[in-house]
Amino acid sequence: MISKKSILVTGSSGLIGSEVCTYFANLGWNVHGVDNNQRAVFFGAQGDTRWNQQRMLRELPGFQHHELDIRNRTAVLELVAEVRPSAIIHAAAQPSHDRAAQIPFDDFDTNAVGTLNLLEAARRACIDSPFIHMSTNKVYGDLPNSIRLKELDSRWDFDDVVYANGIAENFSIDQSKHSLFGASKLAADIMVQEYGRYFNMPTCCLRGGCLTGPKHTGVELHGFLSYLVKCNLTDKEYKIFGYKGKQVRDNIHSEDVVRLMAAFIDAPRSAEVYNLGGGKANSCSILEAFEIVESFTGKTQKFVYLEENRVGDHICYYSDLSKIRSHYPKWNITHSVADIVSQIVDAWKCRADVRQPAVENL
Ligand SMILES: NC(=O)c1ccc[n+]([C@@H]2O[C@H](COP(=O)([O-])OP(=O)(O)OC[C@H]3O[C@@H](n4cnc5c(N)ncnc54)[C@H](O)[C@@H]3O)[C@@H](O)[C@H]2O)c1
Repeated sequence: MISKKSILVTGSSGLIGSEVCTYFANLGWNVHGVDNNQRAVFFGAQGDTRWNQQRMLRELPGFQHHELDIRNRTAVLELVAEVRPSAIIHAAAQPSHDRAAQIPFDDFDTNAVGTLNLLEAARRACIDSPFIHMSTNKVYGDLPNSIRLKELDSRWDFDDVVYANGIAENFSIDQSKHSLFGASKLAADIMVQEYGRYFNMPTCCLRGGCLTGPKHTGVELHGFLSYLVKCNLTDKEYKIFGYKGKQVRDNIHSEDVVRLMAAFIDAPRSAEVYNLGGGKANSCSILEAFEIVESFTGKTQKFVYLEENRVGDHICYYSDLSKIRSHYPKWNITHSVADIVSQIVDAWKCRADVRQPAVENL
């Protein structure tokens, strides 16, 4: 008898984790989701992801939820030993750089130590199973801000041919300000690479730009496009922090993130690192995002401008996707920014209809 493939997904109730669970459940895999709704602890009721957990339990065949904190080393070792998954996707994290400064122990224990717990559990129980870690472009600290920029009408852009396609994986991670979040994620990123190189495990780090989509529970401190749409729909003022609102982010739909993960699981490599955002074509500034959102909601975006930028915030960042495209030529971006925004608008409207806690003021 051929046994079913299984995947273990941490952060399963979050944006990326839930997209992964959906994708692999629909392929017929057994899906083990690990989440303890820590997002509600980090961000309060507005960050609550239970609605997504309950939706998956209702809708996904083969989905099993494990209420487990990845900081609990013994429990992580036991679960991975019991499941011995065919692949692991690690998407649980304290994801906000602003929040990290207020909770440095929780941030490091979750992001760095939690990742080590999972890596070691994988090495002991399923050393040949692909291990994909969601990393972040904050591992580059604020060094991207040292690239020469040009100011355009509605956005900043790189003024250096080296970065014409964006920032590649050989960009320095050293000697810049990362925020405590960037530092804890970098510790995890290096450890994932090390388990790949030292133990020859099929590991990979995806250094995310702005990952988003209709399943995002955006809050002010994390989830830029999702939170912006929510503000627009609820007539709430969006706060712009410095850089004239021309700061640029590259946005990628969570489905496109998962499609790359699936490609890696099909053809794994060892100790790889990829910059994964929407790339230049899917980049937009905050001012440009206002316009796109307004075009779908018909509502003018209210905002307030604050001179001071967020600590270590990137002025312009978009990922160079060339390395991914050369390793996985069949992968591509399938959702434009406009497409992503229109889906987020529809999703927030539905969630208001069913009176989700995150939109109680709609
Ligand atoms: N969303 C983005 O723009 C973005 C950008 C770059 C990198 N990333 C990275 O991608 C990953 C996924 O991000 P996301 O946007 O899906 O985040 P998310 O906050 O939506 O999901 C993370 C999930 O992890 C859970 N979690 C947190 N701590 C936990 C713990 N100790 N034990 C068990 N579960 C825990 C949370 O409850 C939440 O459901 C994270 O590693 C994040 O740093 C995200």
